[in-house]
Amino acid sequence: MAVERTLSIIKPDAVAKNIIGQIYSRFEQAGLKIIAARMAYLSRREAETFYAVHRGRPFFNDLVEFMTSGPVMVQVLEGENAISKNRELMGATDPKKAEKGTIRADFAESIDANAVHGSDAAETAAVEIACFFPALDVYSR
Ligand code: PPS
Repeated sequence: MAVERTLSIIKPDAVAKNIIGQIYSRFEQAGLKIIAARMAYLSRREAETFYAVHRGRPFFNDLVEFMTSGPVMVQVLEGENAISKNRELMGATDPKKAEKGTIRADFAESIDANAVHGSDAAETAAVEIACFFPALDVYSR
């Protein structure tokens, strides 16, 4: 099994609900380590850059609007198969389709406000981590 790193974002809806700790517990119980973390309040430009791959899709403007509507909690998770493990913990993009017991099934309201983001592949994870954390701010051991 490969030890991987992935970028996780607790989105404005979940930060507003005061459930950062509950989500962190799920990461830790699944064996994922939080090796960097910080709060951020994204500017429009930062959100547009982060989600550039979705530019042109019908939900793009609403997504940017939502991600800039309040503070987010951003972290790097490390562990065996961290990318797929985190996506399993998150559940499907649409909370209505997410499996019971996943973060989105338990905490998210809608496909627009769906509590968490997680990188979808190793290449994306590296780019996304670099968006938020200079290499010297990531502590692993
Ligand atoms: S897709 O369709 O497979 O590309 O979707 P996905 O990569 O899972 O999600 C794209 C991101 O946009 C957010 N978002 C929406 N996706 C689909 N439909 C609607 N209406 C929508 N609204 C917002 C979705 O939560 C994904 O954001 P992240 O932060 O990556 O989870």
